[in-house]
Amino acid sequence: MICCWLAGLCCGLAAGAAVAAEPVLTVSTGGRTATYTVAGLLAHPAVAAITVPQDVAYKRPMTYQAVPVSVLLNGIAPAASLRFTAADGFVATVQADVLQAAGNQAPRAWLAVEPSDAPWPPLKAGDPASAGSFYLVWMHPERGLIVPEQWPYRVVRIEEVKPLAQRFPAIVPAAGLAADASVKRGFAAAAKNCLVCHTLNLGGDATIGPDLNVPFNPTEYLRADALRRLIRDPQSLRRWPAGRMPGFDVSVLSDRELNDILAYLRYMANRKTAK
Ligand code: HEC
Repeated sequence: MICCWLAGLCCGLAAGAAVAAEPVLTVSTGGRTATYTVAGLLAHPAVAAITVPQDVAYKRPMTYQAVPVSVLLNGIAPAASLRFTAADGFVATVQADVLQAAGNQAPRAWLAVEPSDAPWPPLKAGDPASAGSFYLVWMHPERGLIVPEQWPYRVVRIEEVKPLAQRFPAIVPAAGLAADASVKRGFAAAAKNCLVCHTLNLGGDATIGPDLNVPFNPTEYLRADALRRLIRDPQSLRRWPAGRMPGFDVSVLSDRELNDILAYLRYMANRKTAK
């Protein structure tokens, strides 16, 4: 009796472990939540093999089994925001119209799915983890000004959310600034490139890097040229092996965008809403 009971318990535990180990993606849109397994997505009728010429995570051409992101979103409103949460605390928010765009002038968003019998390579030397199991990749990213920070990998969750600025008013420049002001452009550029890892005024979803305004704003304690240098190539200012901030060279962030981001940071230093 006891043996049977123990055996049964072991079986139960083993099954539980197997379920927990299987990677799943949770997608919440329009108040409904669906979970997808690797096998389930790879069996989707829309799955295709795609070759990404300039893959952001692997920095070389990559071929993936992938589904168009639009099939996961059930035609939600174009103005909706979708939040992609990665296993490490990286959080990118992308608008639905960009993710669902079709036609020859638009970028195409795909969710690459790592097959369990054909794993992808490790992302970097010394770390066996790949970009999988779920990775947002783009064909023709240049058509939509898609930046490298909009290629979240190790995605665990996709959710429809209110726009970042609406959920975190403390990150937004005051209304009344001219629409084309550098500060406003800088806010938009920072939301795309920086707030995927950093909070500002403790506002934002990401949990990877330090807050960019409280208790101190980097414009308050770094010389302007040093801050510029840090953003372009962090390890050229302070070097250590575990640094996680990527460099933003001119191919991904123009001088104008960098100036705008710095203008936004300087401006926000006078708008602290927390300590
Ligand atoms: C992929 C995540 C990531 C992105 C994207 C990112 N950062 Fe960082 N950042 C970090 C992390 C993590 C640190 C802490 C140092 C490290 O590990 O590199 C950091 C450090 C910094 C620092 C130094 C803070 C200090 O006092 O030491 C500044 C300033 C900064 N980031 C600004 C920016 C700006 C501006 C952007 C957008 C152009 C940006 N970061 C984009 C992750 C990121």
